[in-house]
Amino acid sequence: MTRPPILDQVAVLCDPTRARILLVLERHELTVGEICEVLVLPQSTVSRHLKHLLDQGWLGVRHEGTRRFYRLDLDGVSPTERRVWMLVQEGVAADPSSAHDLERLEAAMERRRERSKSFFEGAAEQWGELRRELFGSRFDLLALLALLESDLVVGDLGCGTGELAGTLAPYVGKVIGIDSSREMLASARRNLDSCGNVELRHGGLEHLPLENGELDVALLLLVLHHLPDPARVLGEVRRSLRPGGRLLVVDMLPHNDESLRESMGHVWMGFGRDDLAEQFQQAGLSLGAVRALPRGEGQGPQLFVATAFCSEGRIRALEQKRNTATVAAGRLAADLDATDEPELAEPEIF
Ligand SMILES: C[S@@+](CC[C@H](N)C(=O)[O-])C[C@H]1O[C@@H](n2cnc3c(N)ncnc32)[C@H](O)[C@@H]1O
Repeated sequence: MTRPPILDQVAVLCDPTRARILLVLERHELTVGEICEVLVLPQSTVSRHLKHLLDQGWLGVRHEGTRRFYRLDLDGVSPTERRVWMLVQEGVAADPSSAHDLERLEAAMERRRERSKSFFEGAAEQWGELRRELFGSRFDLLALLALLESDLVVGDLGCGTGELAGTLAPYVGKVIGIDSSREMLASARRNLDSCGNVELRHGGLEHLPLENGELDVALLLLVLHHLPDPARVLGEVRRSLRPGGRLLVVDMLPHNDESLRESMGHVWMGFGRDDLAEQFQQAGLSLGAVRALPRGEGQGPQLFVATAFCSEGRIRALEQKRNTATVAAGRLAADLDATDEPELAEPEIF
């Protein structure tokens, strides 16, 4: 008779130390040092048995830097071995010495929890600074970008050198950056070289190079104050947003720093809620919350962030208004034709 494999498989579990190791590793993953503490055994003994169990597929290992955490991994053994382990486990767990192992295991786990708890108790005052030192001051805000739907098409209107487009690109389907300055676009192209899902288009915001409804989200960051006719641009934004699409505007609150007009060609010295509400209303966009942004380390005027959306109801109302106006203009033109007057252009709604 050949030796059936079950005999070797059972033999692995016949050693009391190996069975004790498996019993504690079934409850928690542990380092070699922790296993030694829990079983009160020298490291050489524990290491020898760990190697044997690893070779036979009973353990999983997780590497954390220079440390290795071991755990029981029943996926690594056969169904027969699993059944044998169930029996062995029952017997070993019932042995009074196992109760001591499990008590020491709980104590080791409590020490782990205490180490992190006492660190935070001592670090409460310094945690903010330590957090910034380790991870910087923007990582939490950047992480929130992962909440965006990953197939969004976003228009960065007046994209400048493309900083925002580059930040957003990893989190969305596509970013279309638009700017009227070829110099800004050339710089953006260099900065966004590695972003495969950013498309840069040259054009004015008053005639956006976008299809109707091409965007899910439109962004106007530090652009509105440059525009002689914001309502006209907002009307273009509405046209390029799909129904239900959203607009985010970041710009300056009203300020009196005249120098910005001279040095940077600002047309508007900031916007208050009422100015915005009027401009958005004219453009057919529903203005949502307008919030002042906390003053950061920047020296310029305080900024606000405003959101707006393109509601289907408003689009229908505007289309109706446009149709009524076109019909009225048609009638007027027909009347004028009849009196031999020059032809009128189609009336501009926005
Ligand atoms: C102050 S920069 C802001 C750039 C970018 N949004 C940012 O936050 O860094 C304004 C940008 O808007 C662009 N811009 C201004 N008026 C524009 C217009 N009418 N059409 C297209 N782009 C315009 C400028 O060329 C410039 O790149």
